[in-house]
Amino acid sequence: MLDDYLTWKPYFEVVALESDDCVEISNLHGQRFARQWSDGEFLNLLLQPNVFGFVARQTNAFFSKPLGGFVLAREVAGEAEILTIAVAEKFARAGLGWRLMQAAMREAASRGGEGMFLEVEGGNQAAVGLYRKLGFQQVGERPAYYSGADGQRSTALVMKRVLR
Ligand SMILES: CC(C)(COP(=O)(O)OP(=O)(O)OC[C@H]1O[C@@H](n2cnc3c(N)ncnc32)[C@H](O)[C@@H]1OP(=O)(O)O)[C@@H](O)C(=O)NCCC(=O)NCCS
Repeated sequence: MLDDYLTWKPYFEVVALESDDCVEISNLHGQRFARQWSDGEFLNLLLQPNVFGFVARQTNAFFSKPLGGFVLAREVAGEAEILTIAVAEKFARAGLGWRLMQAAMREAASRGGEGMFLEVEGGNQAAVGLYRKLGFQQVGERPAYYSGADGQRSTALVMKRVLR
């Protein structure tokens, strides 16, 4: 415990994403993706009854609860999908992506989801690594699906995991 204070290890809670989080998650989205989704876009999605999400917030910061990451997902008629997920670069590889995905998978299953789908750029090693570790498997491929800022096109992988 003393070690944690000496090295100031950040601790996080994972809680339901609420409308008040939309400005902050939009900012983080803009830091991690080429095209930022606005807070209005996030709010519109979150207001849909089938959409839900989670945020990871640091619990041991001095003055506030800094945002570590978030996930947004949807569950419709037994099929769930990850809409987007991002973790702040300074908290990368600390297990937040894993915890956020676990929360989304649990919630999707509790809403009746039997399988979860997601789409990821084939070259996104961090995300593909995370999803494989969680048990997702590739079920499809969309060549030249994404176009980067440099005009280069890249392949999207469709991945799936059974939730039950
Ligand atoms: C993908 C992302 C959410 C991962 O979040 P994270 O909190 O850093 O991931 P975690 O610490 O939970 O990592 C869990 C596992 O994922 C894999 N992983 C994470 N980062 C990785 C990397 N840079 N390279 C390879 N594998 C990686 C590893 O298997 C890791 O387990 P390990 O640390 O025990 O080896 C984060 O990198 C991110 O926000 N990227 C930018 C946005 C993005 O690409 N979102 C996904 C779009 S589909």
